[in-house]
Amino acid sequence: SQSVNDPQLITTVNKLQDVFATVGVQNPIDLPQIVVVGSQSSGKSSVLENIVGRDFLPRGTGIVTRRPLVLQLINRPAGTNNPTANGDSKDGGLKGSTDAAANLDEWGEFLHIPGQKYYDFNKIRDEIVKETEAKTGRNAGISPAPIGLRIYSPNVLTLTLVDLPGLTRVPVGDQPKDIEKQIKDMVLKQISKPNAIILAVTAANTDLANSDGLKLAREVDPEGQRTIGVLTKIDIMDDGTDVVDILAGRVIPLRLGYVPVVNRGQRDIENKKPIQAALEYEKNFFENHKSYRNKALYCGTPYLARKLNLILMMHIKQTLPEIKNRISASLQKYSTELLGLGDSILGNSSNILLNIITEFCNEYRTVLDGNNQELTSMEL
Ligand code: GDP
Ligand code: NA
Ligand code: MG
Repeated sequence: SQSVNDPQLITTVNKLQDVFATVGVQNPIDLPQIVVVGSQSSGKSSVLENIVGRDFLPRGTGIVTRRPLVLQLINRPAGTNNPTANGDSKDGGLKGSTDAAANLDEWGEFLHIPGQKYYDFNKIRDEIVKETEAKTGRNAGISPAPIGLRIYSPNVLTLTLVDLPGLTRVPVGDQPKDIEKQIKDMVLKQISKPNAIILAVTAANTDLANSDGLKLAREVDPEGQRTIGVLTKIDIMDDGTDVVDILAGRVIPLRLGYVPVVNRGQRDIENKKPIQAALEYEKNFFENHKSYRNKALYCGTPYLARKLNLILMMHIKQTLPEIKNRISASLQKYSTELLGLGDSILGNSSNILLNIITEFCNEYRTVLDGNNQELTSMEL
């Protein structure tokens, strides 16, 4: 369902951030974002890819994700892109193709390469690898410097997500002796922001009590107010075992609950199994499994995406007063500075800023009030 999806909201937020960037203020509004944490190879990057519905993240066994990736998904209706080059062909039938010019409705843009649109998602993955190596070398090094990526698509819910290196203990390659601490610090930095929503990923074939993701999440969010559990690898659990007790809150209860998912396995990656086929497989898996078929609606990637969006909305609503205070505080500060300069041109740009901020606040209020009913009625 796209009912809670609001492209206008994210557009306004981006506009606002662009304006602040233009006047030289670094992200004064700490907007909520969803951060993925868990052990190495628990399936964090796979979960993110499935939510986006496209293949573009480096994933696999071992330490593949070595820098944080800040991923802004922006829902944009089909047919609204105006590419400067590449002709005007638009062929919905080619959707999902890796052909670079096939689908003009979905593309990525890196913050470190402004203005360049990537239509070929394999090239996005190549650039993530290249940009990772630029900062960390090739031999398993890590860096806390984030890579910024925006993905525009008619097929995504409006979400900002952060992919992180997995928690690990034993240094390999060029990794420092204190790799465990370095990654832990990097993760804590992202999840301790009070407005971060934590996606704690645990492989279902490992013991939940040993979950690195849940442990770290509990350090910064002891009440479980902003932690959601994701259980991966349901498909490779031992025969006769399932996660029903975990889902029912009988193992380690989480206020916002758990969502079980099935991602592609290593062999699927090697065989380049298309993401659509993977999502179809996941749907059939839950609908036909005797442990899950009576609650299949609450299993799998589509439910996770929807739940995330609702939690995000709820979270924005809770932090709205603080966001508004911060906006007025910076506005007041800059108005005073501008007045001090006494320049009419600067005065004018201050008005533009004010208008955008007002528009932003109004849109937030409308969207959030509209979603309130659905939020309270939803089973979280
Ligand atoms: P990350 O290190 O946490 O980002 O994990 P990745 O997404 O890179 O996945 C690590 C490995 O686990 C890859 O080989 C994936 O194919 C595999 N994997 C992830 N999720 C699942 C799942 O739900 N089922 C199966 N069978 N394999 C999975
Ligand atoms: Na991995
Ligand atoms: Mg990863």
